[in-house]
Amino acid sequence: MTVYLNGVFLPRAKAQVSVDDRGFLFGDGVYEVTRARDGRLFEPGRHLGRLTRGLYGLGIAWPTGLDGVAIQNISERLLRENELETGAATVYLQITRGAAERRHAFPPPDTAPTVFLAVSRLAVPDEIRSRGASVITTPDLRWGRCDLKTINLLPNVLAKQQAVSAGAFEAILVCDGVVTEGASSNVFAVVDGTLRTHPATERILAGITREVVLELARELGLRTRDEALPLGELRRASEVMITATTADVMPVVQVDKRPVGDGQPGPVARALQTALRARMAQVPVGTVP
Ligand code: PDD
Repeated sequence: MTVYLNGVFLPRAKAQVSVDDRGFLFGDGVYEVTRARDGRLFEPGRHLGRLTRGLYGLGIAWPTGLDGVAIQNISERLLRENELETGAATVYLQITRGAAERRHAFPPPDTAPTVFLAVSRLAVPDEIRSRGASVITTPDLRWGRCDLKTINLLPNVLAKQQAVSAGAFEAILVCDGVVTEGASSNVFAVVDGTLRTHPATERILAGITREVVLELARELGLRTRDEALPLGELRRASEVMITATTADVMPVVQVDKRPVGDGQPGPVARALQTALRARMAQVPVGTVP
C-alpha cells in the first residue's frame, strides 16, 4: 500500500510521523474522508470547502503547495497505485498543526503542518442496508464546535464502541433531549410526512452526504426541514435513516431495540439511496469547482 506523507509517496510501513506531532499529542488537526468511485472522487469541491473551513477554524495555515487540484491529483494517484481504480474506495486525508515541542499554545508560525493521505477499499454495507440497521441512543458528550471535522474523536469513539457492544450499527447522539447526529453519520427522520434533520449548526458536522441527500430529497419533491429532532419525535418517526460517506443512506429499523415504523426499511430511505447512487454514477466526478 502506497501512502502520501508530507510531499512523498511511500510504502505505508515506511510512513512515520514524529512523536512530537501535535496530532499525536493533542489531537490538533482536521481530516476528511472522501468517497471514490472507479478511481475518481465524489464531491471533491464540497470536501475541499469543509477542509478549508476546518483549517481556518483551527487557525492552521494551508500547507505550502497544497491546494484542491494537488489534493485531487494525489488522491487519484494513490487510487491508481493501489489498484483501486474500479469500485468503491475511500480517500483519508489528515492535516495536523505539525511537530513541535509540547506546549498547548500554537507552535512557531514556521512549523510545517503534517499532511497525510491514504486510500482503502470500501466495503459498502449493502447487505445491512437491505434489512436495515439498528442503532442505540447515547448522550452527546462533545464540545461546542462539532462543525469542525477534527481528529479529536474520543466521544465519537466511545459512543461507537457502545453501539458495537450492543450489537448496533451506530450510536445516535442526544444533547439536551435533542438528536444531533450519529457517532460518524448524520441522522434523518420522517415525522408527519416531513424529512427532518438537525440544522447545520456548531452542534453537528455538516456531512457532505447530508447536503447531497437534502438536495436529492427536494428534487424528489419530498418535504424537508432542517429542524432539530427531539428524541420523542425520533421515537414516533415513520422512518429513520443515517447518512455518511461510508454508508450512503442507511435505513434504521430499530432504535434502542424498538422498531421504527413497521420495522422494515422505508420508501423514503430507499428512494434517497437510489437517487444518491444515480448521482454518484452520473456526476462529472473529478472536477474541483
Ligand atoms: N465520518 N457526522 C460525523 C460526526 C461524522 O464523523 C461523519 C462522517 C458524518 C457524515 O459526513 P459525510 O457525509 O461527509 O461522510 C457526520 C467519516 C465517514 C469518518 O469519520 O470516517
